[in-house]
Amino acid sequence: MHRRSTFPRFPFVAAALVGALLALTACTGEPDRNGVVVTGIVPAPAEFELADGSPFTLTDAARLVAVGGGARAVAETFAAPARAATGFPLPVVDGDAEASDDSTARSTDLELVVDADAALGNEGYTLVSGADGVRITASAPAGLFLGTQSLRQLLPAEIEHADATRSPDGGWLVPAVSIADEPRFAYRASLVDVARNFIAVDDVLDHLDRMALLKLNVLHLHLTDDQGWRLQIDAWPELTGVGASTSVGGGGGGFYTKDDYRRIVDYAAERFITVVPEIDLPGHTNAALSAYPELNCDGVAREPYEGVEVGFSSLCADPARAEATDRFLADVLSEVAELTPGPWIHVGGDEPLATEHDDFLDLVGRITTAAAATGKTVIAYHEMGASSELPPGTIGHYWDLTAAHEMAPNRRDEPVRPYPESAGQARSFLEQGGRLVLAPADTTYLDMMYPDRPAGPLGTELGTRWASTITLEEAYAWRPEETVEGLEESDILGVAASIWTETIETVPDFEFMVFPRIAAIAEVGWSPADARDEAGFRTRLVTLGAHLDALGVAYRKVGGVDWAE
Ligand code: ACM
Repeated sequence: MHRRSTFPRFPFVAAALVGALLALTACTGEPDRNGVVVTGIVPAPAEFELADGSPFTLTDAARLVAVGGGARAVAETFAAPARAATGFPLPVVDGDAEASDDSTARSTDLELVVDADAALGNEGYTLVSGADGVRITASAPAGLFLGTQSLRQLLPAEIEHADATRSPDGGWLVPAVSIADEPRFAYRASLVDVARNFIAVDDVLDHLDRMALLKLNVLHLHLTDDQGWRLQIDAWPELTGVGASTSVGGGGGGFYTKDDYRRIVDYAAERFITVVPEIDLPGHTNAALSAYPELNCDGVAREPYEGVEVGFSSLCADPARAEATDRFLADVLSEVAELTPGPWIHVGGDEPLATEHDDFLDLVGRITTAAAATGKTVIAYHEMGASSELPPGTIGHYWDLTAAHEMAPNRRDEPVRPYPESAGQARSFLEQGGRLVLAPADTTYLDMMYPDRPAGPLGTELGTRWASTITLEEAYAWRPEETVEGLEESDILGVAASIWTETIETVPDFEFMVFPRIAAIAEVGWSPADARDEAGFRTRLVTLGAHLDALGVAYRKVGGVDWAE
C-alpha cells in the first residue's frame, strides 16, 4: 500500500468541516444542552448521562492536572495533539487532590486521576464534565487513556486538526455529562494485512490513532504471506532480501526494519494498544519458500508470487528438512518475540490446503512449541484446533462464517456455510484451556464488499465477496456469542475486524473499506449488548464522522446516516 501524494486531503477536509458544522447544528433533533449539540460517543459507553448543568469550556487557562501513577504520561499523550489543535499551552502539572494550592484542579482544568481504589477494571473509567471542570478517574493508566478518548469525541471535531488555524465557532465546549464505562471484551482488534500490499509506517501510525479513538486495543499485523514477508529477521536476511520485494499485482514490496517495527510498537503502547505480530505458518509461506530453498521439501526455491490464490504453499514436514524448518521457526519466532512487549504471538495456521493432514499436525506441534518457547501466549487460527496437543491456554482465532450465516438476496449467489469442522476446531481451543478471538468473515471482514459495490475513492472496485457482502447494519447486528454454537461469554477473549489487502493498494482505499464498518465492530466489542441500538449508533456516527473528516479519513458515507457533506 502506498499513500498517493496527489490525494487532495486538505481541501476535502476543509469542505467537509463546514458541512459538518451545518449538519451538526441541523442534526436529527438531538438534545441541545446549553448550546452544545450532543450526539454521544462511539463505542457507546456502558452508562452515559447528559447532566443539566452548563458545559465546560476549554480555554487557554486550562491545565491538565495529573494525579496518581501513570497519569502524567496519559496527560502528555492527550495534550500534544490538543495543543496543536487549540493553540493553548495546556501544561501538564502534577496534582494533589488533598492540597489547596496550585496542584488542586480549578474549574478551568482537566483533571486526570489514576486511583487504584477506584474499583474500575483495568480499562474502566468515569468522566464527569461541566462548568466545574472535567475529571476523568480510572484505576489504571489504560482506563484513564480510554477516558481521554471519550473526551476527544465530546470536544468539537476541530480537536483533530494538526494545526490551530480553525477554532470552532462556539468555542471548545464539552457538554455536561457523566459517564461510567468499561469494555465488554478485553481484546478488541484491528487486523491489518500488510503482506498482500505493504503499508508504510506512518500510515500504520495514523491507523493506530484512529483505533484509539474507537477504543480498539490490539493491532494484529499479518506480517507474512505468499506475496510478501514484511519484517526484518536478522538470522534469515533473505526473508526480506527476496521475500519483501513483491506484493499482489506487482506494485513493488516493502518491509519494516526492526527500528520501524519498534516505532509502531512504541506508538501503539502510548495509546495502550498491544501489537500482535502474526507469522502465518505452515501455509501462506511462499515468500519464505522463495527466499530459502532449504525450506522446501525438494530443496528448490519457489518463484515469487503476486497473485491472489491461497492454499498452495507449505513448510516441509519431511524429517530430512526438519533441521532447517525447526531452526527457521526458532529463529524467526524468537526475534519476533523480542520485538513484542505484549503477551501474544500469532502463528497463523489458516487454509493449510497444501499440507497433508498428518504433516499439518506435525508442523502445528513444531510451530506452537517454538512459539511457546518464547514465553508468549500463542494465538492461532481455528484450523490449528485440529491438534489436541496445543500449548495450554493457546488462543483460537475463529475466522470462518457465523453459525447462523443466512443468505440474503444481495449476498453471494452461491450458498456458503461454515466448514463443518470449523466449530469443533474452535471448541478444541476451549477444551485445551484457551479462549477465542472471534472474527467471522461474513460479518467482520472489512474487505468484503458493500452490497452496492461502489467504486472506491480512486475509482476502482474494491474488495471481494467470497464470504458475503457486509453492510454497516450487518456488521453492527453481529452477536459474537452466536458466532459458534454453544459459546459462553467467558469463552470469548474478544473480537477482531480484519482488512485483507488483496484489492487495496492505497490509503484512501483502505480507509473507504475500513470506516465506518470498523466502528460497528468496535462498538460490538466494547459496549454492553444492551447499550447497543442501531438508531443511536447512526446518530453518534454523525459526530464520529465529523472527527474522521477533520482527520482526513476517506471513509464511506454509507446511507442512513446524516453525514456532514
Ligand atoms: C483467513 O481469512 N484465511 C484467516
